[in-house]
Amino acid sequence: MGHRMRTAIQYELGGPEVIRIVEADRPEPRAGEVLVHVRAASVNFGETKVRSGVAEVGPPPFTLGSDLSGVVEQVGAGVGDFAPGDQVYGVFLIGTYADYVAVPAVNLARKPAGIDHVQAAALPVAALTALRAAETAGDLRGRRILIHAAAGGVGHLAVQLAKLRGAHVLATARADKHDFLRGLGVDEPIDYTTHDFTQVARDVDVVFDLVGGDYGKRSLESLRPGGLLLGATLHPGVTEQDARDRGRRYTWVSLGTEGRELDRISALVSAGHVRPHIERTFPLTELVQAHELVETGRVTGKVVITL
Ligand SMILES: NC(=O)c1ccc[n+]([C@@H]2O[C@H](COP(=O)([O-])OP(=O)(O)OC[C@H]3O[C@@H](n4cnc5c(N)ncnc54)[C@H](OP(=O)(O)O)[C@@H]3O)[C@@H](O)[C@H]2O)c1
Repeated sequence: MGHRMRTAIQYELGGPEVIRIVEADRPEPRAGEVLVHVRAASVNFGETKVRSGVAEVGPPPFTLGSDLSGVVEQVGAGVGDFAPGDQVYGVFLIGTYADYVAVPAVNLARKPAGIDHVQAAALPVAALTALRAAETAGDLRGRRILIHAAAGGVGHLAVQLAKLRGAHVLATARADKHDFLRGLGVDEPIDYTTHDFTQVARDVDVVFDLVGGDYGKRSLESLRPGGLLLGATLHPGVTEQDARDRGRRYTWVSLGTEGRELDRISALVSAGHVRPHIERTFPLTELVQAHELVETGRVTGKVVITL
């Protein structure tokens, strides 16, 4: 019998309580793969949707988890970029809530110097999504961008990238999060519970919508003619045709998953331009509680699992 490890698994779709922590055989890295000893993994809002079945990835059993930071244990045939002992982080869309995971080498990058595994694990999915959005937005110098759910995992990194690119940033969050947003550089925080954002945020060049639903069409009202709406949620609530009918543009953005894109995040982190905020960490044994917290939709920054 090979080495044993702990892994999270769910045998059915449902609430956080369907997640079990079980023992399993440690995987062997196949050609092109790296076996990583996981030290930290984050919980993304999207994973709560996969867990419950709102977002379909196929029938259970499966192991959730998309981000990881850890140490290379072993490399598969043909892997030249990494060696045992290297500190790495990466994005692997399903299965990182485990002590060990075999990940394609192309999905990994070297962990930025100067941040720990918890901070590194907070970055991949959220930062790569924010980077895609910032790049899709084009030249942001002197432009007005409205970011919805700006205090969340993707949002708080999107704010930092928008400020770095010279934008004037408007951002929605509850009032108790406005100091946090100002600390990130937000110019105009908007409390969406007391103000209709479409009345406060006018003539913006770009909206990055991380809420979806009715925010999709409503966000078109905040845009100047010709402005760009970027959606990223499962139910963006708007189509390209809706935007065209209003003389605006709409594009859906999705994260890149390659290590060489993460290298660009590493450079931004090392230069001090991007810093993840961690609301709370939980040990793997409390993954259920971590899912309960993320599912509230009220998280500031990121929630990270330690192993
Ligand atoms: N397309 C992709 O590749 C991709 C990648 C990653 C994530 N996503 C999607 O992007 C969305 C955000 O993900 P995330 O991980 O950043 O989520 P998250 O961290 O769970 O977001 C939490 C934040 O949402 C804010 N929020 C909730 N309702 C709001 C509302 N009505 N108006 C404004 N802010 C609101 C909360 O602030 P308050 O408490 O102040 O309300 C909280 O700070 C999710 O739908 C996720 O599935 C897509």
